Amino acid sequence: MLTIAIAKGRLQDQAFDLFRRAGIVIPPDTLASRRLLIEDQSGLYSFIFVKASDVPVYVEYGVADAGVCGLDVLLESQADVHEPLDLKFGVCRLVVAGKKDSPEPTHNPMGTARVATKYPRMASDYFQRRGVPIELIELGGSVELAPLLGLSEHIVDLVETGRTLRENGLVEIETIVEVSARLIVNRASYHLKRAPVADLIGTLKNGIAAEA
Ligand code: PRP
Repeated sequence: MLTIAIAKGRLQDQAFDLFRRAGIVIPPDTLASRRLLIEDQSGLYSFIFVKASDVPVYVEYGVADAGVCGLDVLLESQADVHEPLDLKFGVCRLVVAGKKDSPEPTHNPMGTARVATKYPRMASDYFQRRGVPIELIELGGSVELAPLLGLSEHIVDLVETGRTLRENGLVEIETIVEVSARLIVNRASYHLKRAPVADLIGTLKNGIAAEA
């Protein structure tokens, strides 16, 4: 049996839509329950539901053989895992954004631009690569509020439809990375459970193709 960690929240329903299309059957009452550990009908897979940012941790440490999480979470975690498959859902982008009239953050000898984000590692890497010193303000959510309240000049955050930015008077300045949901696999499981992992990858590829 393979244990698969699923990010609770926005990716969860789309992940199980994909599993259903791939022929992995989970009774609806089980899916609707609040249980944090469930199995599919075949008994080949068990699923654990964890906070999105914990998925790479569970997979890296082998508590789960595989996981489904966004590329944003994976890159921010820097977890040492295999990433064999783009699952093609949860498509969005990580961007730098700011108020309509805010200048692009550049090197300013008079001071450092403040950037609010849930992605401190990716944000600081991005500005460091550009030689732009910034002061990072790490938030847990509702990041778009920061420029409105004067907490920061810019934000680094996910944009899916663009609605949250638009409705808060913010604009995208630059895309840092295009994001989608990924299948990730523990490095040891990838070798020691080669056949079931290959089956899972093949099954999910069929599910992705079935959507088209
Ligand atoms: C995410 C993201 C943006 C919003 C983007 O937030 O951080 O705020 O969705 O979506 P949109 O472009 O379709 O408007 P989430 O809903 O995860 O909540 P959070 O602000 O608490 O992180």
